Amino acid sequence: MNAIEIRNLSKSFRGLYAVDKLNMTVPVGAIYGFIGENGSGKSTTEKLICGHLVPDEGEIKLFGRDYTDAGVRVRVGALIENAGCFPSSSVWDNLMMQAINLGIENRAEEIERVLKIVRMEDSAHIKFKSCSLGMKQRIGIAMALLGDPALLILDEPINGLDTDGMRIMREILIDITQKYGCTVLISSHILGELEKIATHYGIIRQGRMIQEISAKEMENRARVFVSVKTEDMKGAKAALKKQFDNVREEEEYLRVYDVDDTETIVEYLYKNGHVVSEIKKNKIGLEEYYIELMSKKEEE
Ligand SMILES: Nc1ncnc2c1ncn2[C@@H]1O[C@H](COP(=O)(O)OP(=O)(O)OP(=O)(O)O)[C@@H](O)[C@H]1O
Ligand SMILES: [Mg+2]
Repeated sequence: MNAIEIRNLSKSFRGLYAVDKLNMTVPVGAIYGFIGENGSGKSTTEKLICGHLVPDEGEIKLFGRDYTDAGVRVRVGALIENAGCFPSSSVWDNLMMQAINLGIENRAEEIERVLKIVRMEDSAHIKFKSCSLGMKQRIGIAMALLGDPALLILDEPINGLDTDGMRIMREILIDITQKYGCTVLISSHILGELEKIATHYGIIRQGRMIQEISAKEMENRARVFVSVKTEDMKGAKAALKKQFDNVREEEEYLRVYDVDDTETIVEYLYKNGHVVSEIKKNKIGLEEYYIELMSKKEEE
């Protein structure tokens, strides 16, 4: 079953389509990375799923049911824009107010549960306004987790976080999916970070889904290259360019794309008077995959 299935979803603002006949499929248990440039329609799509906006047309199904179904709405938690907390109230009180709003029964227990998931069980007494950005983002996730949702929708939750904040967020998101069986839809521009946790990707452009791909499939499709270092990088580059189509200098290495056989490169360079000091096989990551996909689409 799929957690989210969207067909032909459109939403316009003053005649301009922010989401344009969009299709999306998010399998249960996925961490689905939702990627696209500024203004491509990610937040609008997420708001439509959450019922914060009304679509012009199209179909949204959550766990096989229409998204307006009350039974399915209670299974969705979201953090879009900000947590909507009262600054002068404590973390605990903010969670309590939300728990009351949601009609949750064992409130104290539930609050303790979500605080533990976001690693904030010792910070419940702190006023929201005194929390760091990383803590605020985690409180937002805790708010969204109240009531044990099966689907969590997060709009750029790692923006502005430092390395440690990102690591904690990564651990939390993996916990949520693996321990609690929750499906996560997450939009982000920080591709290097997203790549560490996402199991699926959806790439959106001008309101349209241009590609949906699993992380496994992306790994299979990703271009391979050999990174090599020599004493005379300039000379080696010129020599390689005579034989190989795609040679680029990147971060102190020469990259020879679409070759994954290091022996060939070592031998070729040796014959041309260059001794290799370092060589390794590699594959392009999400960032390069995305850039290449976007530039291909531009040419079309
Ligand atoms: N409430 C609104 N009124 C008018 N236009 C809007 C509204 N919300 C979004 N838009 C427009 O819809 C388009 C898509 O915006 P959206 O916020 O969904 O993009 P995004 O992919 O989330 O971008 P970002 O990466 O910057 O967050 C943009 O052109 C935006 O200006
Ligand atoms: Mg956005």
